[in-house]
Amino acid sequence: MRDSTKTAIVLSSLAVVFLALAAGFLFKAWGQTAPLQTIPLVDPEFIKTATVRVSYAELAAAGEDLSDFDCYGCHEKGKPPTLRFDENHNLIVPEEHKDIVMGHGRNSRNNLCTNCHDEANLELFQTRDGRELKFSESTQLCGSCHGPTFRDWEAGAHGRTSGYWNRDLGPISRKDCVSCHNPHSPKFPGRHPAPPPHILHPTLKPAPVSEGEH
Ligand code: HEC
Ligand code: HEC
Ligand code: HEC
Ligand code: HEC
Repeated sequence: MRDSTKTAIVLSSLAVVFLALAAGFLFKAWGQTAPLQTIPLVDPEFIKTATVRVSYAELAAAGEDLSDFDCYGCHEKGKPPTLRFDENHNLIVPEEHKDIVMGHGRNSRNNLCTNCHDEANLELFQTRDGRELKFSESTQLCGSCHGPTFRDWEAGAHGRTSGYWNRDLGPISRKDCVSCHNPHSPKFPGRHPAPPPHILHPTLKPAPVSEGEH
């Protein structure tokens, strides 16, 4: 056979093979590939960076409604409110303050309003060591009883520090205790864990997430 005939045979067989492959791909001769899973976006609940509460200081800075803190809109100056108790010596929270749920400490050992609020001037806090503090200074109030946690907070081991690692570039800021803890029932409630990463391999099943206690 002449060389040119050989070349022609090889080339045309290659062309046939490629055409066959093209047809195979076109008509999906090897079956359908599994469709890509649509991966739902993560619930923004798990990625938002806001703290769970907004403190008085943050409300004031944002120019929000501060009427909850206008004690003398209802109370009379020079007339300290009297604390009332039921027969088991549990504090009775009056109707007008029913959104306040008192439960400070596992045994409610710090439920008396006047342990923190100054009865003589409701718009101030009072500490055991005799300091008078503004609503915006509540972290000092917490620190007056929670010394070790306050030290941890000052050192950045408790709470949250934001701002610059390099203090030459800018300041740091620390979130106030009440941005995370409700002062009246400060136990930090449990939170749902974020979902596990989404698997890409469709044949693998994710481990079952147990419902119930978290
Ligand atoms: C919407 C009206 C209203 C506002 C605002 C208000 N109070 Fe009262 N508060 C009341 C009433 C009514 C009572 C029950 C009668 C009383 O003891 O004077 C009460 C009772 C109290 C008591 C006694 C609670 C008890 O268990 O017996 C304290 C302490 C108190 N208030 C503190 C405050 C402080 C601090 C503020 C501001 C941060 C404030 N209140 C704002 C209406 C109000
Ligand atoms: C452990 C200290 C502490 C005790 C005890 C306490 N408070 Fe407070 N209270 C605070 C702090 C701190 C704030 C301000 C929190 C903030 O910046 O959001 C506050 C805010 C308030 C406010 C205004 C905002 C709101 O939540 O309505 C009222 C009214 C109030 N307290 C009433 C009371 C009454 C009534 C009692 C007793 C039944 C009481 N507090 C007991 C620390 C305390
Ligand atoms: C007058 C003293 C006093 C002040 C002021 C005070 N606490 Fe407490 N706190 C206590 C006591 C007492 C307990 C209960 C400790 C115990 O039972 O072992 C407690 C318990 C707690 C707990 C644990 C709650 C739990 O159920 O496990 C947290 C969190 C807390 N406080 C946060 C705060 C924050 C935030 C502030 C400031 C708004 C604050 N405390 C102000 C005395 C205080
Ligand atoms: C950025 C949020 C955040 C800030 C700010 C913060 N805490 Fe906490 N704190 C928490 C969380 C979350 C827990 C619960 C940890 C757990 O349950 O294991 C906690 C736990 C606690 C406890 C209970 C510790 C225990 O051993 O049971 C105390 C007391 C407390 N905080 C006091 C404070 C005080 C006082 C401040 C301010 C000086 C403060 N926290 C600031 C988030 C915060």
